[in-house]
Amino acid sequence: MLHPKVFLIACLAQISTAATELAPKRFSTLPLGDIKPTGWLHDQLQVQTDGVAGHMHEFYELVSKSDWIGGHSYYSYLEEAGSYWFNAMVPNGILMNNTIINEKTQAFLNYVLDNQDETGWLGPEVGTDKPRYLWGRYPFFFGAIQMVEYRPELTDTVVTALHKFVKLANRMLHNEEGIEKWAATRWEDFVIVLQWLYDHHPRGEEELLLDTMKHLKWSGVPWEKVFSQEYFPTGPVENLTNPFGMELSWHGVNMAEGLKALPATYRFTHNQSDIDAANDSWDLMFKYHGRPSGAYAADEMLAGLEAVRGTELCLVVEAMFSGSYLYQVIGDLKYADRVERMAYNALPATITADMWGRQYLQQQNQIAAKNMSPNPFPEDGPYSNVFGLEPNYPCCTVNFPQGWPKFITNAFLTTADREGLIQLYLGPFQVQTTLSAANQVQVTVDTLYPFGDTLHTTINAAKPFTYSVRVPSWVTDGFIRFSGGKQRQLAPDSESGLMQIEVGAGLTSFVMHVPARISIEKRLHGSVAVHRGPLNYALDIPRSEKIIAQDPHEPHAVDLQMEPTGAWEYAIDSDTATMTFHNEAELDLESPWTDSYSLPSPIFDSGKPPVSITVNACSIEWPLAGDMFITSPPEHPRCIGEERMIQLTPFGATRLRISEFPVYSTHEDQLDDGDVGQTVFTL
Ligand SMILES: *[C@@H]1O[C@H](CO)[C@@H](O)[C@H](O)[C@H]1NC(C)=O
Ligand SMILES: *[C@@H]1O[C@H](CO)[C@@H](O)[C@H](O)[C@H]1NC(C)=O
Ligand SMILES: *[C@@H]1O[C@H](CO)[C@@H](O)[C@H](O)[C@H]1NC(C)=O
Ligand SMILES: *[C@@H]1O[C@H](CO)[C@@H](O)[C@H](O)[C@H]1NC(C)=O
Repeated sequence: MLHPKVFLIACLAQISTAATELAPKRFSTLPLGDIKPTGWLHDQLQVQTDGVAGHMHEFYELVSKSDWIGGHSYYSYLEEAGSYWFNAMVPNGILMNNTIINEKTQAFLNYVLDNQDETGWLGPEVGTDKPRYLWGRYPFFFGAIQMVEYRPELTDTVVTALHKFVKLANRMLHNEEGIEKWAATRWEDFVIVLQWLYDHHPRGEEELLLDTMKHLKWSGVPWEKVFSQEYFPTGPVENLTNPFGMELSWHGVNMAEGLKALPATYRFTHNQSDIDAANDSWDLMFKYHGRPSGAYAADEMLAGLEAVRGTELCLVVEAMFSGSYLYQVIGDLKYADRVERMAYNALPATITADMWGRQYLQQQNQIAAKNMSPNPFPEDGPYSNVFGLEPNYPCCTVNFPQGWPKFITNAFLTTADREGLIQLYLGPFQVQTTLSAANQVQVTVDTLYPFGDTLHTTINAAKPFTYSVRVPSWVTDGFIRFSGGKQRQLAPDSESGLMQIEVGAGLTSFVMHVPARISIEKRLHGSVAVHRGPLNYALDIPRSEKIIAQDPHEPHAVDLQMEPTGAWEYAIDSDTATMTFHNEAELDLESPWTDSYSLPSPIFDSGKPPVSITVNACSIEWPLAGDMFITSPPEHPRCIGEERMIQLTPFGATRLRISEFPVYSTHEDQLDDGDVGQTVFTL
């Protein structure tokens, strides 16, 4: 075990050897506002805006009474709550064109910048003797960058303030100041901010920016070691000793943010080993802690594969954001496949349908949401899976609202030369942007995806360009058809994995069909998870809900206890040949769905999605482990009732659920091969 200080000194010696320019990303993001959600996705962001996200500035002390509007809070405006809120509500407000939210975020920006002191510091420590730590500002910087993208007239003010802050931060880092345990793990977020300055507004400060990035990298957690085969924990960590003397390097949210560290480092080291380690880190994380929902388990610290262990909501939205960044640097579509799975499963599942209540921790098998006894989470409280305003800890309340907006703003990218446009995430969107050579392009994608398999795309371009679409790894027998043209099989480019379409000037329209087969994922104790396309399918356990707390100022902000009112003790027949996929909204490919079908709102609620899978099942004995959570799925369970059919629905629409099922009958040898977490059988 290296003492952190010794490690730091050893590492600082390497700084001078690194390269002196920033390597380009393979793909670039579009400015905030160029990509808009439409259809059900627009509705989902409206639900978020009508929920706690869009209202917390009115009543939730941590943001409503922060210093920036003259109130007082122990949670000052750039220490966590205000910064997280700003990072999320800037894109939320702009994407929904919500005047009130946009005014609030503008006021927040003005307040922070107006109170920058002469040394360059930003934050409530100005004029006090509070110690200055760097981290609390990083989410604020992300929000400020997004505002500049949308409102270029803010560029000079924001960029000037950032450069001033960077000069101070650089001096602090040289003096080993400003780093406490959170800044030591989250340095990559500041590196990414510095890279934005370097790429877009360097103002001749390239050397200083690079020097600051390098010092940040060596100021904290050595992610290349944490994420290496040698040190990576292959199970829950509560009884392990952290080899780096930095407990927080195994903290779920820090790791979700840390997944960006190595691709960000690569840009200034040009070291292929950083790319390789970044790429492997993703696989290690999901192999040993992955969930059928797309996320991984960390109930504060990494939690392994058992289905009752928790996944923190902050982790879900941070891992989605990191996955988007990893794709932009590395270009492997595995990141995009998984981000889409997290967005369409893990994110909605852990928030009430009206988006007023959120959990701190979600469980893959979750039969109740209540104060639990005993507590299945070694390092979080027994109240962590209750749906409410701030169960366990407030951070997720202010941080979760970045999830949908950032998924949307990362859904389309341009090639590095800005000549080509890529649809990375499938869903309903509208894009209006300018590619290189002043090529004005509009794209409309009409689809029910992931609740349908068909995407109707219309493009209007000033000049010819290459339009690419990600073809998810689960698509089989997909095809594309241009209006008036022939149907042909999807043929993704062998190197990029993207379906490339040469688009002429003027109007182009085509239909893409991206069907998938039902697949089975192997889980612990001989259990299985059921998937089709990006969606994980679960048993939606009927439930009763009871209000157990209510905010005195906001009647919508309630804590909900949920208990099962129906059976959950089922084993299934895991032979996919006995399963049937249903889609009530199944589209007539000849006519656009918009005429005939619109999804209910909010969509992520019991009985709302039009898709389901029926499977054969039987009742089994499945004991409780506590009040109320269950033991691991029983191995080789015996049926105690008749075989019958049960319906599985999208995981994201369930609040109480079983998603890792015991198996009473199986296709021959189906589960013998492969590791837990792998797809072992597809019909
Ligand atoms: C590249 O990465 C390897 C492994 O982390 C390290 O040993 C080497 O010093 C790095 N090289 C540079 C130039 O940073
Ligand atoms: C945004 O809202 C403002 C004020 O309500 C309105 O004038 C404007 O047209 C809206 N913009 C868009 C793009 O909908
Ligand atoms: C950790 O130690 C506790 C107490 O000995 C034990 O109950 C628990 O099962 C251990 N957890 C793991 C993952 O080994
Ligand atoms: C990243 O990892 C995947 C396996 O998950 C591998 O197929 C791919 O080649 C790797 N890419 C790079 C750039 O190393």
